[in-house]
Amino acid sequence: MDPTPEDDQPVPGLTTDDAPLLALHGVHKAYGRGARSTLVLHGIDLEVHAGASLGIVGESGAGKSTLLSLLMGLSAPTAGTVRFRGRELRRARAGRMRDFRRAVQLVFQDPRSSLDPRMTVGRIVREPLESLGIPGAHGERVDELLEAVGLEPGMVSRYPGEFSGGQRQRIAIARALAPEPEVLVADEPVSALDVSVRAQIVELLGRLKAELGMTLVMVSHDIAIVGQLCEETVILHDGRIVERGRSLDVLTAPQDAYTQRLLAAVPRLP
Ligand SMILES: Nc1ncnc2c1ncn2[C@@H]1O[C@H](COP(=O)(O)OP(=O)(O)OP(=O)(O)O)[C@@H](O)[C@H]1O
Ligand SMILES: [Mg+2]
Repeated sequence: MDPTPEDDQPVPGLTTDDAPLLALHGVHKAYGRGARSTLVLHGIDLEVHAGASLGIVGESGAGKSTLLSLLMGLSAPTAGTVRFRGRELRRARAGRMRDFRRAVQLVFQDPRSSLDPRMTVGRIVREPLESLGIPGAHGERVDELLEAVGLEPGMVSRYPGEFSGGQRQRIAIARALAPEPEVLVADEPVSALDVSVRAQIVELLGRLKAELGMTLVMVSHDIAIVGQLCEETVILHDGRIVERGRSLDVLTAPQDAYTQRLLAAVPRLP
């Protein structure tokens, strides 16, 4: 690796060490065994530095959620390494795994299925504080979190079923923010929402990223949303990264033929 300052690599601004927060190197992932196994990710190299915002774009079946599950340590790569602050996740001890669980939080696509309908909003948002053993006044923290995502603190005693899709996604975001993560990972966070609510949640994510200086990794098939929220974009096609760069460049001057087709399919803004 060339450590010269004129290197065009992103500067790992907020970390004290130079290791990226998250890194995948030479990652392959196969589902199934033996003759029935299919390779869905082929040699992925990806680094996420502190303060970065990365969008992962690709069609259905491209391997986006698989990539996120590896990044989150929810499944192990068939080959290659997944590292958190330079250390391999699969070899991590319990203490380090707990740090990781706290530092990297996930927001799912569908707030209907990701929130337990039998738990009150207060309990849902408080749960990660308890399970991760985070000290402090949890009740106050929950009120603060609800306010941060634009919900009334009075909502703590209500159930997810009493809320709209957009409000539920705000609850899910509040829960993800509870342990003060360094990285928010979101898998299609707005695709289950209707268009007007979608814009509000995109606005909320953008504001949280700016205000909290949070690192954001977001999967979306919606290239426009990635362009709005993420400074860098990678394009995933059939389990391979076919293009990567500054979102502005990827979205305005795509080099790869697949990216060009993907962009040509997006309706133009008036
Ligand atoms: N648990 C699994 N077992 C077997 N195959 C799987 C599993 N999960 C995903 N796959 C397959 O791996 C490929 C990639 O799936 P993945 O869910 O990562 O795609 P995606 O890009 O997230 O798609 P979408 O946009 O539809 O969510 C698909 O062909 C899918 O059928
Ligand atoms: Mg998916």
